[in-house]
Formats: sequence, C-alpha cells, structure tokens
Amino acid sequence: MNILADLGIKPVNAGACWGVNQWSESQDELITSFSPANGEEIAKVYAASESDYDTIVAKAEEAFVEWRAIPAPIRGELVRKMGEALREKKDALGSLVSLEMGKSKAEGDGEVQEMIDMADFAVGQSRMLYGKMMHSERPQHRMYEQWQPLGLVGVISAFNFPVAVWSWNAFIAAICGNVTIWKPSPKTPLTAVAVQNICNDVLAESGYKPIFYMFVDSEQNKLAEKFVTDKRVKKMSFTGSSVVGKMVGVKVAERMGKCLLELAGNNALIVDESANLEHAIPAVAFGAVGTAGQRCTTTRRLIVHESIVDKVTDILVDAYKQVTIGDPLDTNNLMGPLIDETAVANFEATIEKAKQQGGEILFGGNRIDRPGHYVEPTIIRAENNWEVVQNETFAPILYIMTFKTIEEAIELNNGVRQGLSSAIFTQNLSNAEKFLSYAGSDCGIANVNIGTSGAEIGGAFGGEKDTGGGREAGSDSWKAYMRRQTNTIFWGDTPTLAQGITFNI
Ligand code: UN1
Repeated sequence: MNILADLGIKPVNAGACWGVNQWSESQDELITSFSPANGEEIAKVYAASESDYDTIVAKAEEAFVEWRAIPAPIRGELVRKMGEALREKKDALGSLVSLEMGKSKAEGDGEVQEMIDMADFAVGQSRMLYGKMMHSERPQHRMYEQWQPLGLVGVISAFNFPVAVWSWNAFIAAICGNVTIWKPSPKTPLTAVAVQNICNDVLAESGYKPIFYMFVDSEQNKLAEKFVTDKRVKKMSFTGSSVVGKMVGVKVAERMGKCLLELAGNNALIVDESANLEHAIPAVAFGAVGTAGQRCTTTRRLIVHESIVDKVTDILVDAYKQVTIGDPLDTNNLMGPLIDETAVANFEATIEKAKQQGGEILFGGNRIDRPGHYVEPTIIRAENNWEVVQNETFAPILYIMTFKTIEEAIELNNGVRQGLSSAIFTQNLSNAEKFLSYAGSDCGIANVNIGTSGAEIGGAFGGEKDTGGGREAGSDSWKAYMRRQTNTIFWGDTPTLAQGITFNI
C-alpha cells in the first residue's frame, strides 16, 4: 500500500484549504515533514499566507450562513458520511499518523478509530440538542431555552493527537451548525491535509458549502496571533501547553470570545497495598510508555504504598525491559520515537535536573543511539515537590514515590498545578470511594482500576487547574459549541411582570 498516494498526499502540498479542491497557491514558506522514526523527509507543505487566512475566514463566514439553516439531523447525516469515509481510510490514515507523529501503528489506528467513534457520537447527538422547558411564574406564559450555533469555531491542535482532537471539536461543532477553521500543528501537517482530502471527497458529493477549513501555519506560528485575536472566530479550542494556553485564554477573553482549553497533564496513578498488581502494572506501563509519554493523559507519577514499593518497582522494571522500541510502523514495537530533536533535548535536560535534585534512575535515562529521536523509557525515584516533578515533560519519564495513608496519597495526587487525569488501583472500597469523593482527586478524569490514559470519547474530556477547565468530546460537551437563549412567550389576555411588580401606565 502506498500510504501517501492513497491519502492524496503529494511530494509538495498546498497548506490552506477553503473548499472542495480549493487549495491556496501561495508559496512563501515550505515546511518539511520528517519522520521522527528515522529523520527522513516524508513530504512538504506550503505554509498559508495572511491573504490565505483572510480568504478562509471570509468563505467560512459565508458558509456558516447556509450551514446554520440546515436541520441538525441532516447536518448529522453529513458527519455520518465523513465517519464512513474515515472507516474506509482507517488503515492508511492510521499509518500516516504513525509515520508522521511516531506513535505505534496500533495507536495510530486507534486515533482514527477515535475519530470514527466521534462521528458516530455526533450523528446521534445531532438529534439531541435539547433545551429545557421551564414553568413560568407568570400566568399564560411559556418559558424555554434553545441552543443556537456560534458561528466560526477555531481549532488549534497539537502534534500528539494530530487528527482525533480535531474530530472531537469539528464533528460536534458541525452538528451544532458551526463551521470549523483548523490550525494543525506545523509538526504534523500531512495528517491534516489527508483529513481535509477525505472530508473534501464527502463534501464533493454532498452539495453543501464546505464546513471544514484548514491552514498550516509557518513553523514560527506567524498567523496564530491573528487567528486567536480574530473577533469573527467565536470559539477558540486550543490544545497545547499551559504556558501558551494561558496566553490564548487571555487574548480570547480580551475580545470577549469563548475559549476551550485542553492543556498540560501531570497525571498520577496510586497503587495501594490491596491493589491487583496483574492489572496495575500493565496499566502503568501503557500509561507511561505508550505514545512515548507524549499524551496529555500519560502517567507521569506513580504513588505506591510504602509496604509494596520494592515489589512494584521490581515488577515494573522487568516490564520495562520487555518494551520493544523502534519503527512505529513495525507492529512488534510497543514504543516509537519522540517527535523531534527538541523533545529529545527536553528529555535529557529533565533527566539531568532530576538527578541534580536527588532522583535515582531505576531504569533508562538515556537517548538511544540510532537514527530518529528515540529515548529509553525511564523510571526515577523522586519526591513530588521537586520542580522537575511538578512540570510536565512530554517524554516517557515516570516518577515513583511512596505514601502511608490514603489521605497522603490523595494529597500527592492533587499536589501539582495540573489536573487532567488520575487513577487508583485498589480492592479497598473505602479507598476507591475516598478517591472519587469531594475530598478525593481534583482532576477532570478519575479512574478506579484502570490507568490514566486511553479515555473513551463518550465522556467529557478535559481537566482542572492549569489544565485549563475545558471539556471536549462526549457527554454534554456539545453545549460549548452553541449559545443558550432563554425565550419567554406570553399568549394570554392580561400581561404580568415578573417578581410581582406592578407598573401601571
Ligand atoms: C491528549 O493526549 O491530548 O485519553 C488526548 C487518551 C486519549 C486522548 C488523549 N483518548 O489518552
């Protein structure tokens, strides 16, 4: 199979799209996409120009006026067709995700499955954009709320989930009547071009104006500021670091726009003395090593009861020895490379800092000497309050620490700035319930006897504190892509004011 040809990727591609086969012709800056697995060039993409951006927004605004008039279940039907098209291309797109991002083929396919699941979810949701009916306090009045589309929704996604996160936003935004403009990571432009090609094919058959727009920004993110401060973009959904996310949040708030932030995680997994280790150890290994530690939900801190920490460490080190590292497209490998050289440098700097702060390396700690950006999955004995532990490093580094009481374990779990995902492995009902109580985990995701990563799309995804507070994907996350309107209608003979006020004129 020729993955690139199958997905319409040419050696040199346009990077801005505003319609079916309407791609920009600007040639200001050429971005090369390299495979993190071997450093070799995959293909090139032209970065969008400022005038491309203006064309996109103008076309998107025009398209919105038509799209919002289409009944939501019919909008759902278009998303259903996109889901079907993704099903057909799952193997090829999963491989491209693996090739360009460096996650294993199984995880690349899993990411496309997440898009397909999202499409299915959105189709169902398109018939369930429910508003409440309230009983008016006034006679012969009817009061209810309805949900209206917002308009243009901006999506800025990260390299680590180069396509799934777009679908969480774009498919739900679409059934809600919005038009989406996507700025993918300049580190993974090809997967975005491929997704746009797949959607274009569906749009070509549908007879509607395009609802998905895309521009690849320059490597210096030259257009990002314009995008974020653009008043026409009613909602900005940003996935990335807490530092950049805070800047995005402030800029969008300044213009009274709506923002959805999905930022850093520093996720902990607690293993208490009753835990089933046969379940816990694989969950820790997948959570810490999967995607080479480059998920927001990656397990970064392991909090183990002091009575079993030696045993857990031994089993875990044994498990780490079995992690096969190499070409992510080779299905025998469990772990691929990091995204680029900067990521490797960050990994090495973090290991150095951890050592300086007193960290003891229990496994790994080194770059692997071969082409591509490979590092060893690493386990370090550490303390929660160390600066290096407090920060998220996007790499397979797991800090291990101990606790005596469940209260102490929960305090450690919560004792970081970030609040995305968390987990406890326990057979003790009381510990499980404490962890899930108001005094328990302060994270957006809290699991019992499953790990921190690999969330299903059916739930609302996102976290608290420096993770940004946004919720995407399932549950009632659709409400974030609509505006709520309260309507009161009087149908009687004698008008009345609320709160019993009389105003005779
Ligand atoms: C992310 O890392 O940005 O729960 C998203 C998970 C995936 C999504 C992660 N379903 O690990």
